[in-house]
Parts: sequence; structure tokens; C-alpha cells
Amino acid sequence: MNPEPLTVVLSDPEATHAWGQRLGQVLQAGDLVVLTGDLGAGKTTLTQGIAIGLDVRGPITSPTFVIAREHPPLGVGPG
Ligand SMILES: Nc1ncnc2c1ncn2[C@@H]1O[C@H](COP(=O)(O)OP(=O)(O)OP(=O)(O)O)[C@@H](O)[C@H]1O
Ligand SMILES: [Mg+2]
Repeated sequence: MNPEPLTVVLSDPEATHAWGQRLGQVLQAGDLVVLTGDLGAGKTTLTQGIAIGLDVRGPITSPTFVIAREHPPLGVGPG
């Protein structure tokens, strides 16, 4: 059974970054986050927030044009 879709309105880059940070704090090992959106939609801004929440090594640059990039945890990492 699919969960109800959730819509979150993030009206400025700071809100997007902050929401990403909160998401990063609750992600667990094995979770998969897929971002889709037009150029400039805010995917990298969100990802930079996620990285702060996960406490991983940066810098976080646009993931749009690479296949995979690893950012090892600075601490224990997600459980
Ligand atoms: N609500 C918002 N959330 C995120 N970014 C916003 C928002 N409003 C305006 N912006 C601006 O839009 C731009 C988003 O750029 P970002 O690099 O995050 O997008 P992107 O989806 O990764 O683009 P690309 O596909 O080119 O990599 C930034 O310049 C940011 O300041
Ligand atoms: Mg990007």
C-alpha cells in the first residue's frame, strides 16, 4: 500500500535548505531519495541541506551531471 503523497511548499532557498537538513536528519541507511525537476528547481539546494543533516563530507556540488558521488559520514552516519 502506497503512503499518501505529501506536498511541501518551500518558498525560498533557505526554506528548501532547512527542509533538506531535516530530511537528512531522519534518513536511514538504505533510504533512497530521488530528485526530479527543471534546471534551477532547487535540487542542489535541497541536497546541500540533506548533506548538512546527514553530516557528511562536502562540498556538495550539483549532482545533476554526475552518475554517483560519495560523501562519507563525518560521524557515525545514519543507522
Ligand atoms: N524555494 C526555493 N528553493 C530552492 N531554490 C530557490 C528557491 N527560490 C529560488 N531559488 C533559487 O533557485 C536556484 C536553485 O538552484 P539549484 O542549483 O538548487 O537548482 P537545481 O535544481 O539543482 O538546478 P540544476 O538542474 O541546474 O542543477 C538558486 O539560485 C536559488 O537561490
Ligand atoms: Mg543541481
